Amino acid sequence: MQRRDFLRAAPAAALAWPAQLSAFRTQLRRSTTPPTEDYWEVVRSAFLVPDDRIYLNVGTLGVQPRVVVDAVVEHTRRVAMSYPPGVEWDTLKQEAGTLLNGDPAGFVFPRNTTEGMNFVAQGLELDAGDEVLTTDHEHIGGLCCWQLLAARRGVVLRPLPIPPTPRDAGESVDRFRRARSARTRVLSVSHVNFTNGVVMPVRALVELARPRGVLVVVDGAHPPGMMPVDLRALDADCYASSPHKWLLAPQGSGLLYLREEWRARLWPTLASGGWDDPKLGADRLNHLGTADESRLAGLLAALRFHQAIGSERVHARIRELRGMLREAVAGIPGVAVITPPGDELSAGLLSLRTSRPALDVQAQLARAANIRTRVIGEYGYGWLRLSAHVYNRPAEITRMADVLRAVLQGRV
Ligand SMILES: Cc1ncc(COP(=O)(O)O)c(C=O)c1O
Repeated sequence: MQRRDFLRAAPAAALAWPAQLSAFRTQLRRSTTPPTEDYWEVVRSAFLVPDDRIYLNVGTLGVQPRVVVDAVVEHTRRVAMSYPPGVEWDTLKQEAGTLLNGDPAGFVFPRNTTEGMNFVAQGLELDAGDEVLTTDHEHIGGLCCWQLLAARRGVVLRPLPIPPTPRDAGESVDRFRRARSARTRVLSVSHVNFTNGVVMPVRALVELARPRGVLVVVDGAHPPGMMPVDLRALDADCYASSPHKWLLAPQGSGLLYLREEWRARLWPTLASGGWDDPKLGADRLNHLGTADESRLAGLLAALRFHQAIGSERVHARIRELRGMLREAVAGIPGVAVITPPGDELSAGLLSLRTSRPALDVQAQLARAANIRTRVIGEYGYGWLRLSAHVYNRPAEITRMADVLRAVLQGRV
């Protein structure tokens, strides 16, 4: 390559996002400890959310910090310039393993929880009459994979009713204990229910199931990035997640973690080179043909952004904001909080029942103050769900509560 050509190509091919991230780290180090609102303003400045937008729906999709967007764009540009994609899968597995205390060899990177859960359901050998126990709080992304097996192969799917506001974790464990039968092969639960925000007792369910040879499959769409996740300690058979929610990764970056015994055993849904080589372990499921590696570059940047602030600090801030949301809405006439209090049973999501239909309330919040929320219409619940992350300001929560009060009083 001529020197002139090299100089022309190099700046565009070089990755700027790592330098951007280290500048962010330096900025954070200069800010106060323990973090005050000034610290969180520095964090907010790393995002693209406009000041007049109040985004309270990370539960559906996180907003990506600028550095994540740049990592995706820079990677895409490198590919367009004919440079090799250059995402280091091993690095990605290492960093996911560090954050979630998992063995790096256990990770698969599908596009989302839905894909991960389908890989699991399709990959198990379940026959007609085999039973899958689940709950009446599952999202279509973790439920339909079992419905398909029921329709096509005669697998029996039994959703157990779990109270909207459980008193303690033991209540759900009891439901499963009472419901299991000799034909039960799988317990499929969410780690955090998308409906009521309840943290389910995954570890206790594993203790109940494993001695009987029953598998525990977890829809972990929410917890990574929202609360501590210890995959080794949970010890579920399969754990699927969507880092594009609370880890603020690009849309379409999922992960699936397999316990050691399943890495060589689970049937791949998509077969490509090495699908039948048990030595490849979980990587048999990572051969998905040509993939969008730019989103994996973004996932790596998102993991590093999260670590730049620090997991404990992010989780504590999310709990603090959830506490502020609860306090702000609890006293409003016409609001009943569904999500149980306390850090054992809840984490980042807060669901409410409102005296006016939740869809109307949601529309009014959006119209009056550009506030984005989620309505849980599923199973006929009709709740309004709020979820905040590190980019949200306490003033946004106060504003949301003011508008909610006005909406419920018919003043908006
Ligand atoms: C509990 C739960 N599971 C699965 C999903 C589906 O996630 P994805 O669309 O990323 O597959 C969601 C999405 O909101 C969810 O809340």
